[in-house]
Amino acid sequence: MSKSTSSFTCTSCGAVHKKWAGRCDACGAWNSIVEEAPLSAGPAAKSLGAARGRKVELTTLQADEPPPPRTASGMEEFDRVLGGGLVPASAILVGGDPGIGKSTLLLQATATFARKGLKCLYISGEEASAQVRMRAQRLGLADAPVGLGAETNLRDILTTLDAERADLVVIDSIQTLWADMVEAAPGSVAQVRAAAHELVSFAKKRGTSVILVGHVTKEGQIAGPRVVEHMVDCVLYFEGERGHQFRILRAVKNRFGPADEIGVFEMTGAGLAEVANPSALFLSERGQASPGSAVFAGIEGTRPVLTEIQALVAPSTLGTPRRTVVGLDSGRLSTILAVLEARCAIPFAGLDVFLNVAGGLKVTEPAADLAVAAALLSAREDVPLPPDMVVFGEISLSGALRPVSQTENRLKEARKLGFSQAAAPERSKAEGDEGMKMRKFSDLTAFVGEMFAAG
Ligand code: TYD
Ligand code: MG
Repeated sequence: MSKSTSSFTCTSCGAVHKKWAGRCDACGAWNSIVEEAPLSAGPAAKSLGAARGRKVELTTLQADEPPPPRTASGMEEFDRVLGGGLVPASAILVGGDPGIGKSTLLLQATATFARKGLKCLYISGEEASAQVRMRAQRLGLADAPVGLGAETNLRDILTTLDAERADLVVIDSIQTLWADMVEAAPGSVAQVRAAAHELVSFAKKRGTSVILVGHVTKEGQIAGPRVVEHMVDCVLYFEGERGHQFRILRAVKNRFGPADEIGVFEMTGAGLAEVANPSALFLSERGQASPGSAVFAGIEGTRPVLTEIQALVAPSTLGTPRRTVVGLDSGRLSTILAVLEARCAIPFAGLDVFLNVAGGLKVTEPAADLAVAAALLSAREDVPLPPDMVVFGEISLSGALRPVSQTENRLKEARKLGFSQAAAPERSKAEGDEGMKMRKFSDLTAFVGEMFAAG
């Protein structure tokens, strides 16, 4: 039979390969595959048939105890992303680029939970206790009853957790932990996986909630936290542009609440400030009506958010014109450009196209299609859109406009921010009123005809 050899694991998606390759077949990531030591030939490696296991005790689906109450931290943006507060015994992974503000966010969250009466521990493997204390001082959190530790040894951390019986423990970060039962360097896939497994098991057994911080690195040098995503209950991503002050906490997986929920924060000199009205913030930098700008009425998680989509179209000096996108899927831009060319006879060949979502938000909704097309057309024709208009709708390959969900919510948010007309697909289930004029279009050609008649 096959002898036990090393396996090769993708740090990006966790797929296991027989041999090393420059590119992972499963997820397409480059340079993400690392070698892992073989499993020791212990009892687990033997055939399962020989020794019989213990019979698992089965229960029914009927709950005989009420679900334990969630604890809200009082940081509303954070609570919302968790689905309404912290669930006891839950395991949460917070991923994000280094320097984006994960430690700041979690120190603030831990302090607010501690002030609410939860017993909280903050274990830092990256910073010395003095550094964390200094930050807490600066953030005005020094008085919060948080137990602070600087440790990387998993065994010592588990012993501490066992003794302390905390309600919540933050581990910053999972990549710095070192489990002595695994022979691999800290930060390697094997170490990260072992440490996450131990901590998540501890959370489930003892009723302690565990928040793990994980750095995401593009190079795949340090094991990405992707390999632990399936072990935890919630996966939150903390995103934002480094030069920008906006930060978005997004739930990409949540066993206790809606996924795709976002919380919006602003990085200030005194830590992260919550942004209760993100639409106002995202639109705050919008100047006078200028060509290439369209306001998209989107839905992020359970709430509507207005964002400005900006486009710049300029003659290209390159053989292959540039297509630069920030905050949107570049594939989606190609599709929309192709539909404009093929269905509306508006060519973009020989033109550089730059597209940007203002404020650093990542828009993934197909409903943004029409707003993207509007921004592109407005930039190309050098005609500004009406400044009081929001745009939403999905574009199909035929050029037809498809209605999108939650039209009423989108319109309500637009009304609240002073907009008075909306460009939307024909079959949208909402009628305008005196405060909001609905301009409905069956396809992209009709939209172009009415909005850019001169072009
Ligand atoms: P940090 O939480 O250390 O990031 P991470 O843990 O994700 O690596 O935050 C790093 C950045 O945040 C740092 O560049 C400085 C900035 N920052 C502020 O602007 N204001 C503050 O009050 C704090 C604490 C940090
Ligand atoms: Mg940090």
